[in-house]
Amino acid sequence: MPAGFQQLGGETVTGTLALSVFTAVLGSLQFGYNIGVINAPQKIIERDYNATWLHRYDAPIPQSTLTSLWSLSVAIFSVGGMLSSFTVGFLSEWLGRRKAMLVNNLLAFIGGGMMGMSKISRSFEMMILGRFIIGAYCGLASGLVPMYVGEISPTSLRGALGTLHQLAIVTGILVAQILGLDSLLGSQELWPVLLGVTVLPTVLQMALLPFCPESPRYLYIIRCQEHHAKSGLRRLTGRQEVGDTLAEMKEEKRRMDMERKVSIAELFRSPLYRQPIIIAILLQLSQQLSGINAIFYYSTSIFQKAGVQSPVYATIGAGFVNCAFTVLSLFLVERTGRRTLHMLGLAGMCVSAVVMTVRPVALLLNVPWMSYISMVAIFGFVAFFEVGPGPIPWFFVAELFSQGPRPAAMAVAGCSNWTANFIVGMAFQYIAELCGPYVFLIFAALLLFFLLFTFFKVPETRGKTFDQISAGFQRSVARTDMDLDPDLGKASTELEYLGEANLS
Ligand code: GLC
Repeated sequence: MPAGFQQLGGETVTGTLALSVFTAVLGSLQFGYNIGVINAPQKIIERDYNATWLHRYDAPIPQSTLTSLWSLSVAIFSVGGMLSSFTVGFLSEWLGRRKAMLVNNLLAFIGGGMMGMSKISRSFEMMILGRFIIGAYCGLASGLVPMYVGEISPTSLRGALGTLHQLAIVTGILVAQILGLDSLLGSQELWPVLLGVTVLPTVLQMALLPFCPESPRYLYIIRCQEHHAKSGLRRLTGRQEVGDTLAEMKEEKRRMDMERKVSIAELFRSPLYRQPIIIAILLQLSQQLSGINAIFYYSTSIFQKAGVQSPVYATIGAGFVNCAFTVLSLFLVERTGRRTLHMLGLAGMCVSAVVMTVRPVALLLNVPWMSYISMVAIFGFVAFFEVGPGPIPWFFVAELFSQGPRPAAMAVAGCSNWTANFIVGMAFQYIAELCGPYVFLIFAALLLFFLLFTFFKVPETRGKTFDQISAGFQRSVARTDMDLDPDLGKASTELEYLGEANLS
């Protein structure tokens, strides 16, 4: 084996593969950073909004206006993500995966620059627009990165390398939480730097992307450039002989050439794609409606209400737990499989959510160590999230679809994810006011639903090529067509796929 190559899961990780994955997930790092960065400096940025208002209108800002401006600054990020994630399909087909990531960096520059300059320009409008633009950057990154990584990874490492997208997100969240401490960048003077440093990984990504090969699957299947695809494959695998992978891609291309171009509407109309797109959407919803971002957006106040002594440090603790368990998932995902880990994660989150709501009862009974139980329950909630529901939905969508429908499917899945993210971000505080600590029971019920859905409908994809996965869905549809009674046929074919899933 050439020097500098690592053997992992029976596959060789070449320097080029490692570099390409690392470069791509710099986008995920920024995604995480911008999720986590807004939590800590709320009060100091609000003070500057007030100063701007005073400067403009000679009067302090009304509290309700301040609350609205702040909510907008937080939530507009997901609106940017929602809108841009819808264009992932079109951009990744038109420019290619690599160039689309390169061009996306423009948004990071503009967004980061605007947020960083908003204080000096005395403009909260600039800050809000900057959050919108950086949100748009993240929306594109959340589709492009898993797509590129999934396409360049060898089959046996697709899950592990796919999990690196989530690992970079959680690392970004943690870095933002730490840099946001008021002794570091979370101070009255330095908060513009805190928000502006998001451009640093952008510069690094732009410098490294030219050294990464374009996805050979894209080059061969979409662009019909066999020669370029081959040389990319050689660099990524470190092998001169890439006939086996090429043959597999040829088979995928052959199937794709027989299909019509797959639009978003087609995904829902065609019986071939309906089942996988429903699975893709529900997996994304299971990630967001689990309530994870209620913790990441509002952790400080949740810990405060739970009676935890230093809520800011508890938040950072949650960030560490978040990272540690993503690493665990990285090692488990190719051994245990996606389906099992996802179910384990959902079940664990469901139990943790119920435990979180035990606190009011314990308060009545005057149990003194209850704040610790709440903290452990929150940490458990985060830990189980990262075992499955955090990383898996991101790369699972790319796995469920072959090259033709993949971009459209990524767009639909990404947009569902961001919409649910927006809804939880906006609605959580209001619902928490209505239901008090019992708000997590709503998430527990949703988690139970998603657990049952995964058990009955989601197949295992570990170790299968893209072509085998989509062929599994095709077989099940073909059998349905042959059945005389359509309803009966549908039920039996879905069970059939599930049977395969359970065996693998
Ligand atoms: C996932 C989610 C994101 C969440 C993060 C927490 O990446 O998509 O919304 O904040 O996990 O670790």
